[in-house]
Amino acid sequence: MNTSINFDTESERTGTSSTKWDRYRGTDILPMWVADTDFVVAPEIANAMRQRLSHGIFGYTNKPDKLNELVVERIRRLYQWNIEPQWLVWLPGVVSGLHMGARCVGSSGDSVLVPSVIYTPFKAVAELSDRKAQNIPMINSEGRWVLDLDWIEANIKADSRVLLLCNPQNPGGSVYTRAELSRLAELAKAHDLIVCSDEVHCDLILEPDRTHIPVAMLDEQIARRSITLMAPSKTFNTAGLSCAFAVVPDAGLRRRFKKAGQGIVPYINVFGYTATQAAYEFGDDWNRQLVEYLKANRDYLVHEINTIRGLRLDPIEATYLAWIDVSELGLDDPKSFFEKAGVGLSPGRDFGDDRFVRMNFGCPRSRLREAVIRMRVAVSDYWGN
Ligand SMILES: Cc1ncc(COP(=O)(O)O)c(C=O)c1O
Repeated sequence: MNTSINFDTESERTGTSSTKWDRYRGTDILPMWVADTDFVVAPEIANAMRQRLSHGIFGYTNKPDKLNELVVERIRRLYQWNIEPQWLVWLPGVVSGLHMGARCVGSSGDSVLVPSVIYTPFKAVAELSDRKAQNIPMINSEGRWVLDLDWIEANIKADSRVLLLCNPQNPGGSVYTRAELSRLAELAKAHDLIVCSDEVHCDLILEPDRTHIPVAMLDEQIARRSITLMAPSKTFNTAGLSCAFAVVPDAGLRRRFKKAGQGIVPYINVFGYTATQAAYEFGDDWNRQLVEYLKANRDYLVHEINTIRGLRLDPIEATYLAWIDVSELGLDDPKSFFEKAGVGLSPGRDFGDDRFVRMNFGCPRSRLREAVIRMRVAVSDYWGN
């Protein structure tokens, strides 16, 4: 029997060393920045963790026997992508996988294609891997933030080895279509690129006419040049448990990928595995209810923001992140402006465009409403109304 989850419950996170909440500890600023949600995990996850905790011994831990089969079955069921258990590489985080992906192909000084705007850690990948970043502009195509594929075609360099993709896109919230991915895949094949695709937000598709398509499932050739990164962390709100995985179909690439992290990237912790197994075994219904709740939050937010003079928000196809255009306000420091109003947002500058702010709407509706009211009042005061 499915339990109805009450996502309206306001949970107290102060005093839990939450990265999101600690930033504004002791202030009246609502934290709506870093990408975790304020929702308690599915009861099945909490129960599995309690059970594991009660054992009391937390030594080095192998991947649970069933885990790979659960992932294979889930990816087949949700995305119609047929993968093999041996293609999976478990990681403590998606960001580690991005770095390993950039380091396992080519050599020092090669170029890494990086979307811009993009989730901040993507921007450090090339430099920390001793590579050169080549920024691919993102364009707004009829309200959807997508890679400029024409630009890639015209500007790709002979030493470009890896393309970092983010699908669904953070911060733009777009879900790439089959046509867009097919064109990207053809470019990757023509220019001998490995595509390292961060698909961590894939279970959070809000738009009914969009489906998540892992780029690697388009055909066998692109599969062989792909590294797909996924995790339960965004969907099931387990980011603090550090557990993610890569799907790397090609055996040679997989060997190189693993080697790039060997001795540096730590083991996955026991509770990360426990939570992931419970999420993938029992979490589908919770995930469905979460998406319904986020859709309503998204609808509310898009409507409200677009009625505030000077703010603009395009439709959001996926994620719980809103990429809000505040350029009309002409602010020097939009983050401070909204903090003064009592709302803690991520500055667009961190993602590559200071005309925007990013707002996390993965929270109870009451908190979202309060944030919107504060933003409306601040902007209204700013215009002198
Ligand atoms: C697109 C994207 N990739 C990766 C991450 C972080 O992944 P991890 O914490 O597993 O390194 C985030 C978190 O916000 C994200 O939005």
